[in-house]
Amino acid sequence: MIRPAQERLFGVIGYPVGHSLSPLMMNRAFEVCGLKCRYLAMEVTDLKEDLPILARVGFEGLSVTVPHKERIIEFLVKVDQEAEAIGAVNTLKRCENGWEGRNTDWIGVVKALESAVSSDKNFWFGKKALVVGAGGAARAVCHALKKMGMVITISNRTYEKAETLSRDFSCDVVPFDSLGNFSPGTWDVIVQTTSVGMKGYAETSSPVPPTVFAPGVIAMDVVYTPRWTVFLSGAKERGATVVFGLEMLLYQGVAQFEWWLGVPAPVEAMRKALEEALYVNSEGKR
Ligand code: ATR
Repeated sequence: MIRPAQERLFGVIGYPVGHSLSPLMMNRAFEVCGLKCRYLAMEVTDLKEDLPILARVGFEGLSVTVPHKERIIEFLVKVDQEAEAIGAVNTLKRCENGWEGRNTDWIGVVKALESAVSSDKNFWFGKKALVVGAGGAARAVCHALKKMGMVITISNRTYEKAETLSRDFSCDVVPFDSLGNFSPGTWDVIVQTTSVGMKGYAETSSPVPPTVFAPGVIAMDVVYTPRWTVFLSGAKERGATVVFGLEMLLYQGVAQFEWWLGVPAPVEAMRKALEEALYVNSEGKR
């Protein structure tokens, strides 16, 4: 028998995970709540072999990151409807006979928008949204916006991928190189889900021409380094409301914490842990 004797065990699995911010965020949360828990980053390559080992060693909950979010589904005993629809799992909880999976990325999107803009469900219902990108992040974003009752249009560099997403989430597609032809305010909500603008990857560009922004438009980026991406700066310059990528990262973690522990997460402490790690001595106050 193996059983953790002093601390409950949680962690993130992926490859690579050396730079994951989740341990900082989760261990800070455990500390401020006075919980005897520990969260570790673990490189895992062989899900079939390693998931049962992690259960036996006593891990109770795991975050899942690249490259495992999709493939892990086949090794789980239960997966919730949301994760099924998105086609990816980012959170595991140990159960009697294995691991149960959920997706909290979409919850991160909903909570980020609600906390930064409005928690009134009627505010979001029927809003016109543009999702730029058609990768894994875009799937979670589309699911979230659909749940909020928005009408979605997708645009992606590779048109065929946008078409696949549009079938799965019943939305429209517009060509990526046509975005400059749309007038300001065509969309009420614009979510940038590509890696463009990320530190070290096309940092000085945005896949969205700033001409689509106008006062009243809500612009959200999934990229969180830098805090002010070219996409978000362009939005702010034209009077749009911005929602930082950090908020989605934060709230997907908040939902994980609450599922594992069954108590409210210390949101402000978790946000502070992320901000200290990401932005201290660099740019940008809110
Ligand atoms: P993630 O899981 O983070 O969404 P992904 O599945 O690799 O990552 O998807 C990356 C997204 O960024 C895709 O929509 C990709 O567009 P393609 O489908 O055309 O590859 C988009 N992307 C990456 N680099 C881009 C660039 N330089 N310009 C425009 N879109 C880009």
